[in-house]
Amino acid sequence: MIVYLNGDYIPHEEARISVDDRGFLFADGIYEVVRIYAGTPYRMGPHIERARRGLAALDIRYDGLDSLPDVTGELIRRNDLDGAEATLYLEITRGAAPRKHAFPPAGTPPTVYAAAKPYTDHPPEYWTEGVAAITVPDNRWARCDIKSISLLPNVLANQPAHAEDAFEALYVRDGIVLEGSHSNLFAVYDGELVTYPVSNFILAGITRAVVFELADELGIPAREGLIPEWRLFDADELFLSGTTTEVMPVVTVDGKPIGDGSPGPVATRLQEAFKRTAAA
Ligand code: PDD
Repeated sequence: MIVYLNGDYIPHEEARISVDDRGFLFADGIYEVVRIYAGTPYRMGPHIERARRGLAALDIRYDGLDSLPDVTGELIRRNDLDGAEATLYLEITRGAAPRKHAFPPAGTPPTVYAAAKPYTDHPPEYWTEGVAAITVPDNRWARCDIKSISLLPNVLANQPAHAEDAFEALYVRDGIVLEGSHSNLFAVYDGELVTYPVSNFILAGITRAVVFELADELGIPAREGLIPEWRLFDADELFLSGTTTEVMPVVTVDGKPIGDGSPGPVATRLQEAFKRTAAA
């Protein structure tokens, strides 16, 4: 596997970063995951724009984001991923400098890493039968809009879900269900989609935005709004959206069924429409 590190294409096993890297010391950086369908990156533009916003929010200076499509193309070529199902992982940190909380001197180069690797999809029954979720208290910071590599709260939320064979942990803050540990959440009430508003409390998912586009095309009403925890079980349907999650029906939460406990028609239509846009 050939990866990209700070301008070079090198074998994965030769890729090295400093123990002084601020990504390692402080989780001081951002990341993106881009899905590659049949060799073509999906929604690369919005991923680049989100990374740009994240870097600006953290005041990390890196002017190479516009070359990401070329870097990705090169990684696809060098790893024989033409026409393949794959993912791209991108990480940019504030670079290496002796450990000190304040920013390193101006001009310290950021560390830039990108890797494309073959992707094995979830089992098809995740979509046809739906998945389980659990609820967890949202103990993250108040800048969840930044796709920070500081994922410890997400790791600690996801692990108990995984231990219970649930696909996702849903964050609850002040009685409101916000999103999952690695995906956004939609509820369907009387045929209308509701999802938490874009704000500092969730990540503005690229797939979330695609769901709004598809809902518009399919004539499904959709709005931003609050999903109180007590209304979760009144929902006709729940589903997740995310880069590899796509549109994934959630059929139980904390062991209790949502709707009739099987994927609903709205999530199914949206997932089918999503597959069509991804293949287009
Ligand atoms: N997760 N919310 C959170 C907290 C996320 O980490 C993600 C993405 C999403 C969905 O965003 P998008 O549709 O742009 O993938 C929402 C990525 C895929 C990950 O950490 O692997």
